[in-house]
Amino acid sequence: MNEQFKNDVLDGLSANPKFLSSKYFYDKIGDDLFVQIMNLPEYYLTNAEMDIFSNKTDELIAALNCTNDRPFDIVELGAGDGSKTIKLLERLVDRKINFSYQPVDISQNALDGLESRLKTELPNLEVETQQGEYFEVLSSLKNTNRRKVVLFLGSNIGNMLDPIAKKFIDELSSNLNGGDHLLIGIDLIKAVDIVLPAYNDSKGITAAFNLNVLRRINSELGGDFDLEKFAHSPYYTEEEGIAKSYLKSTCNQEVFIAALDKTFHFEEGETIHTEISRKYNDKIMQSLIQDSGLQMCNKIMDNKEYFADYILCKS
Ligand code: AVI
Repeated sequence: MNEQFKNDVLDGLSANPKFLSSKYFYDKIGDDLFVQIMNLPEYYLTNAEMDIFSNKTDELIAALNCTNDRPFDIVELGAGDGSKTIKLLERLVDRKINFSYQPVDISQNALDGLESRLKTELPNLEVETQQGEYFEVLSSLKNTNRRKVVLFLGSNIGNMLDPIAKKFIDELSSNLNGGDHLLIGIDLIKAVDIVLPAYNDSKGITAAFNLNVLRRINSELGGDFDLEKFAHSPYYTEEEGIAKSYLKSTCNQEVFIAALDKTFHFEEGETIHTEISRKYNDKIMQSLIQDSGLQMCNKIMDNKEYFADYILCKS
């Protein structure tokens, strides 16, 4: 049994208000649901960042200083299926620029899929997959004499509270050398009628994704959550700029979790906070990188200006 999961569930469901971490959305079922979310018409983030990688590729290459003057490695954190990055890789190969691609992911399965796709689509590209935690891999790469271009796409940073995101960027920076670049993809603050549907799709896939944490508690910790008695409840205001997801109890109920030998009471309407998806602007981004040793060098947006890839430089 996963002790960390057990302890986190105990802490989160004993708190007032209740919370559970969104990191527990992701098991095999959650990963599949997230792939479906990324393909939903309402989930504009995927298409927006794909627009940048497909149509602003030369701008990206210039901003990341990708030339043959100094050999470099592109290190992608949480590469997944690499579908956006492939656009950049293709263009670099077309332009005969020398570099290697090092996708990093927790999932060996994702890396194997990406590697075999690249073998077919870009057979001459030097690819070295790295399975593991981001910072372990980055610190192992710190002492190479090759320049690094680190990619962290998809507004994944938005699932961290600001102080945690700041710490994350500080730690990334401490693993970079002067002249390295970091590209962070972030979703921009915009109107509620665009953002909220992305977290409340009409097919109910996001609801199933959110409820997946309760399904995992049932299967991994012997919980008896009735998933029908919790509703997916997202919230967003443009003023705050943070999409928040909750699971709302639809009645007064008790839930027993065998691994904790404990019963939890839920009032009708009571919520469990499960996820934040932060949206950004220049000011918030600037405050995150303050004192990190990174400078904002460039910002490339999609044609609708929904999403931005910020290019940060280590001096
Ligand atoms: C992974 N992450 C950037 C997604 C997001 O938009 O916050 C996770 C997600 N949650 C609901 N839909 C997608």
